Amino acid sequence: MNSDRKQVLVTGASSGIGRATVLHLSASGMRVFAACRRAEDGAALQDASATPERLTPVILDVTRQETIDACRAFIATESGGRLDAIVNNAGVGTSTPMEVVPLETVRAAFEVNVFGQLAVIQAFLPLLPRGSGRIINLGSVGAHITIPFGGVLCGSKAAFEAFSDALRMELRPLGIHVSIIQPGSIKTPAVDKTLGSVEEAISQWPEAGRARYGALFRRFSARARARETGGSEPDIVARTIHLALTAPQPQTRYPTGKDARMLTLVPRILPDRTLDFLRQKMLGLPTQFDVPREPP
Ligand SMILES: NC(=O)c1ccc[n+]([C@@H]2O[C@H](COP(=O)([O-])OP(=O)(O)OC[C@H]3O[C@@H](n4cnc5c(N)ncnc54)[C@H](OP(=O)(O)O)[C@@H]3O)[C@@H](O)[C@H]2O)c1
Repeated sequence: MNSDRKQVLVTGASSGIGRATVLHLSASGMRVFAACRRAEDGAALQDASATPERLTPVILDVTRQETIDACRAFIATESGGRLDAIVNNAGVGTSTPMEVVPLETVRAAFEVNVFGQLAVIQAFLPLLPRGSGRIINLGSVGAHITIPFGGVLCGSKAAFEAFSDALRMELRPLGIHVSIIQPGSIKTPAVDKTLGSVEEAISQWPEAGRARYGALFRRFSARARARETGGSEPDIVARTIHLALTAPQPQTRYPTGKDARMLTLVPRILPDRTLDFLRQKMLGLPTQFDVPREPP
């Protein structure tokens, strides 16, 4: 496919991987609709772009259907009714022990990472041309290798990958490719948003939760933060997305960035217990199965 002719929608364009992707794709010759939740983020993207004439900011919150509908109507007009690809990148992270995570936090994460993605796909799919349209979904290595305290985030990414697998097979007869991008550790603002202030998070748990998980969560957070801040630059993922958009036969999955290949491979070959041990070790968590004794 010729990059010069492609028109692409990228969600979650205000920061991190989405921002890098918008700048990379527009510099490569594509026309990019950069979806942000705030107008000022779209304006900042245009200021940062070497090719602002190929970058059109649009407002889109994946959890608000009215913004999706308005964005679709705008793009349908602006693009001449043809969008070559959707890059579903918007996402949120969260990190909490399963026992104490408020259900509204779980629902909010799934609202963005799962239901919001499907809402965008359902709205924009009719604009994709049969025979050449593409959908690129941002999954995660975490969809295949869950970590302690990451159950909600990893669970939402696993659900999104399952949606993507179904979609890939359903759209095959229409000639529309669906690829999943699986970033490993990527250095973006997401790490601070996901881990946030550790002490503030712990202070909001019930007392029993603080006693049970507080020390472990502090250790986990320090390790996790170090891994992410030592991760790959988001431009690596942007280049992978460009590849998925332009390869004549795109792959179904693209592990990309630091440790991504290893972290998607090991869960397929190691038994659960071995994998648990390695994960716990990697994150500085206890590996023994402990049974606290009640006093006689
Ligand atoms: N960084 C990593 O190591 C890593 C690893 C695996 C997978 N990923 C995935 O890669 C994608 C991008 O992550 P990132 O690291 O670049 O994170 P990021 O810097 O935090 O960017 C997330 C983007 O999603 C947007 N967003 C959040 N809620 C939204 C909503 N309701 N509607 C529309 N947009 C919304 C944010 O917009 P606002 O600025 O308005 O909040 C922001 O533009 C995510 O899907 C993430 O799960 C990242």
